Amino acid sequence: MRTIAVMNQKGGVGKTTSSVNIAAGLARRDRRVLLIDLDPQAHASLHLGVEEDGSTDTIYQVFAGAKRLRDIRQLTSNNLWLAAADLDLAATELELVDAPGREHVLRKAIAEHCEEEPFDYIIMDCPPSLGVLTINALTAATEVFIPLQPHFLALQGLSKLFSTTALVRRRLNRELRVSGVLLCLYETGTRLAADVTDDLLHFLQSSDDDAPWAGARVFESRVRRNIKLAEAPSFGQSIFDYAASSAGSHDYGALVEEVIAAEQAGERPLADAA
Ligand SMILES: Nc1ncnc2c1ncn2[C@@H]1O[C@H](COP(=O)(O)OP(=O)(O)O)[C@@H](O)[C@H]1O
Ligand SMILES: [Mg+2]
Repeated sequence: MRTIAVMNQKGGVGKTTSSVNIAAGLARRDRRVLLIDLDPQAHASLHLGVEEDGSTDTIYQVFAGAKRLRDIRQLTSNNLWLAAADLDLAATELELVDAPGREHVLRKAIAEHCEEEPFDYIIMDCPPSLGVLTINALTAATEVFIPLQPHFLALQGLSKLFSTTALVRRRLNRELRVSGVLLCLYETGTRLAADVTDDLLHFLQSSDDDAPWAGARVFESRVRRNIKLAEAPSFGQSIFDYAASSAGSHDYGALVEEVIAAEQAGERPLADAA
């Protein structure tokens, strides 16, 4: 099983779009996938057509200790389950503040679920902050995907992200690693996108072996800016259902193949594999 946190403390970089479409793409390739929406804004849930109406069970109840993951997860399409979020989840940051073992709630819930009923992939859509929800995702994950919009200052928050990951690896989760940076909202043919991409590759390559980002790579597949990707959430559909022949569907399709190819690579960090 691969457990992937899709994380960046910036908003609007493509976390939710990537989480939903990677999850949907893997499900179409016959993997059993659970998507966990960890953002109180619940955009991933909406994207899969699950609207908050007060009666939906959500991941908030798991954090509150009221329900188990298997009670709240719902099947949204073939092979794709969702643990939905709602605004209540915003309270979790406060409610867990002094709770012992607060970083491990999600990890335990996932372990309990998977003992009875395993998944091939768990994808966690993180909120745009480094609070307790994101720390729970990092404690539960084996891998981190970082979506990045290649624009001015894009690299600025990046070393902070890597050091947070490294801290969690040291203190809470030895298995955690950043497996890839995913370029989203990519403007093909612009000088800026090309420059930022070069800077990013340079930054990752120049690091020494025990830098927090050692072994992280940039996914070959880039997700171009494509209006269909922005439209799909309003229809409660993944890009593959909403616009199968769009550039967005092509790009996320290629990315999913890259993610699947890493299954054979044994999921080891490149630095260790060398
Ligand atoms: N490749 C893309 N092309 C066009 N619009 C996109 C693309 N990726 C994301 N969007 C849109 O940009 C906005 C922010 O994306 P989102 O995935 O919600 O980011 P985050 O979860 O990081 O805040 C959303 O309105 C989304 O529909
Ligand atoms: Mg989001």
